Amino acid sequence: MLTRMIYISRAVGPQTTTVTTQILETARRYNKAHNLTGVLCQGRGLYVQVLEGERSAVNGLYRRIVGDNRHDHTEIVHFGEIESRQFKEWSMALVHLSIDDPMVAMKHPEFDPYSANSTAIMGLITELLSSSSAIQNPG
Ligand SMILES: Cc1cc2nc3c(=O)[nH]c(=O)nc-3n(C[C@H](O)[C@H](O)[C@H](O)COP(=O)(O)O)c2cc1C
Repeated sequence: MLTRMIYISRAVGPQTTTVTTQILETARRYNKAHNLTGVLCQGRGLYVQVLEGERSAVNGLYRRIVGDNRHDHTEIVHFGEIESRQFKEWSMALVHLSIDDPMVAMKHPEFDPYSANSTAIMGLITELLSSSSAIQNPG
């Protein structure tokens, strides 16, 4: 049973390259081993992450992530069954939430994931992914 989960959280401390690299290294190893895919958006002190995989694998990963003291205020914004994966080519892609693209900035002037619905959140992620500069270290 394939599922997709979206959650948001607030970073504890600055989102440095070191922290991001550590998270992504763990994520790519663990996610590959558990057939999980997704994308991590980060910036402005926030994380927005999409996780896709078998339901029990997604839940298992979320339990690990929730306990991580590098972020807090974790909030599930969406959980549902899916027919197919949207991010099947990435064990965990990284997208920057700092909205530099003027078109994206115009459409989402003050994007706040804590008050946005899941459709708006997925929409922004998809837009950011389609702008070529957004993806870092696809893997
Ligand atoms: C925002 C954020 C996203 C994360 N995403 C993943 C992920 O996709 N996969 C993963 O294995 N760990 C991810 N982690 C790391 C886990 O929270 C956890 O540190 C890691 O699984 C190691 O857990 P352990 O120290 O209990 O072995 C993420 C951490 C943060 C802060």
